[in-house]
Amino acid sequence: MEIINHFLQQGPDGRCSEFSKVYKGVNVELPQGATVLVVGGGGRCHAIVDALSRSPKVSKIYCAPGNAGIALQAECVPIKDNDVEALKSFALDRAVDLTVVGPEAALAAGIADSFSEAGLRIFGPSKAAASIESSKEFAKRLMAKYGIPTAAYRSFTDYDSALEYVKGHSYPVVLKYDGLAAGKGVVIAQDFEQARSALKDMLSDNVYGKDSKVVVEEFLQGPEFSFLCFVDGEKVYPMLLSQDHKRAFDGDEGPNTGGMGAYTGLPFVNDEDRDYALHSIMEPAARALAAEGVPFKGVLYGGLMKCADGIKVIEFNARFGDPETEVVLPRMKSDIYEIFSAIADGRDLHDIPAFRDGIQWGYEPTIGVVMASKGYPGHYEKGYEIGGLDSDFGEGVRVYHMGTSFVDGHYRTAGGRVLIVVASAPDLKEARDRAYKAVSMIDCHNLFYRKDIGHWAL
Ligand code: AMP
Ligand code: GLY
Repeated sequence: MEIINHFLQQGPDGRCSEFSKVYKGVNVELPQGATVLVVGGGGRCHAIVDALSRSPKVSKIYCAPGNAGIALQAECVPIKDNDVEALKSFALDRAVDLTVVGPEAALAAGIADSFSEAGLRIFGPSKAAASIESSKEFAKRLMAKYGIPTAAYRSFTDYDSALEYVKGHSYPVVLKYDGLAAGKGVVIAQDFEQARSALKDMLSDNVYGKDSKVVVEEFLQGPEFSFLCFVDGEKVYPMLLSQDHKRAFDGDEGPNTGGMGAYTGLPFVNDEDRDYALHSIMEPAARALAAEGVPFKGVLYGGLMKCADGIKVIEFNARFGDPETEVVLPRMKSDIYEIFSAIADGRDLHDIPAFRDGIQWGYEPTIGVVMASKGYPGHYEKGYEIGGLDSDFGEGVRVYHMGTSFVDGHYRTAGGRVLIVVASAPDLKEARDRAYKAVSMIDCHNLFYRKDIGHWAL
C-alpha cells in the first residue's frame, strides 16, 4: 500500500525493510499521518478514498459504509451515510482528524453542522448552504437575486394554479419537484397532458414526498457539462470540467439515471466559456451564498448548459458529482488532503506553497464507463457474481466500485450502478478504447453499460 511505502522511504534509520517489519508488527513511534473518515459508499467515495490514499499526509482512512472495492483501500465501517449521530460518535471515538462527506443525504441531514458543533473538522457544507441542492426554489431565487444566468421559472405549491400556468406555457416545459428526489424529480413535459400528469404526481398525489412545491421552468437546449469547484466562503478553486451521460441507453435515450459514464477533456467548452462559467456563475454563486449568511464550504457543483445565447445553470449540487468525481480526481496531481484540510480550517489554499498556482492536474483525458444492473434505474436484482475484477486491465485503467459486496469469496452486485471502469490515455479516443477493453474483461450476467460514452467529444 502506498502509505506504507511512504513511511518506508522516510524510515528514520534509512533501513527500509526493517522499518517495515517494525511498522507492521509492533506499535512504535511513527511519523503519524492524519486519520480521515469518508462518508458514503459509492463510486464517488471510492475515487475520494483513492485520491486520499495517494496523500503522504494520510495514514488511516475509514469509510462509512464503503463497499467491497473501497475495502481494499480503507477500513469500512457499517454505519449508514445519513446516521449523523453514529458517525459523530465514531469520529470522536477514533480521534478522526478530518471527515469528508460524499452524498447529499448526509449533508441534508446536517452532518456538517453537527460535526462542527462537536469540534470535529469536516469537509462539506452546512445544511443551510446545502439548500442550493436540496431546494430547487432556494437555488432559483438565489440565482434571480444575484443575476446568475439560468432558465426563467415560476414556483407553485397549489395544483390548480400550476395547472392553469402550464396551460398557457410553450412546450416542452420543465417541471422540477422542490426537494431531493434522487435525480428523478425532473420531468420534461412535451405537452399539456404530460405536464398535468407530472403536476398531479408532484403536487396532488405526493409521489416524491410531501414538500409539495414545484418549479416550472423554461426548456433550454445545448450540451450539458459539470463544473465542480472547491469552495470556502467566497474563495473558489476550480476543478477540471467533465460531462456526465444521464440517460440509461445509447444515443442519450431512455430514462434519466444517476449517470452512466463521464469524461474529462470537453472539446465544446473553450477557455472563454470556462472563464465565463467560473467568473460569472461559480464565483458569484459562492459570493451570493456568503451574502445570504450561509457561506458554503465544500464542493459546489454547477450543472451547466452551453445554450445558443450563453452558458446557463441547470442545477447546483452541494457535493462531488457521481460519476464525474471518478474521472476528475484521477487527474489531480495535488494532494487532496491538503485541499480538504485547508477548506475545513478556513485557510487560503494559495498560501500553501504547492498551491500557489492553483490545483495541479495531469494532461491525459479520462473516461469512465458505468456498469449497471439490468433494469436500473427501475427495478433490478442484486447478488450476481462478478468475475474478472482481478484481471490485468492494462495501463491507465482503474475500476471503482459503485455498488458491490463481497460474499462467500466472490464480488457480487449490490446496487443499481455497480462498477465504473475509468481509463486515462494521451487522447480521449485511446482512453475510450482502454476503458471498453477493460469493461469486456469483467464478467457478470446481470450488468449492462452504454457503448457510446464520450460520443459528444469523439
Ligand atoms: P436536474 O436534476 O435539475 O439536473 O435535471 C435533470 C436533467 O433534466 C438535466 O440534466 C437536464 O438534462 C434536464 N433539464 C433540467 N432542467 C432543464 C431545462 N431547464 N431545460 C432543459 N433540460 C433541463
Ligand atoms: N452526475 C450527476 C450528479 O452527481 O448529480
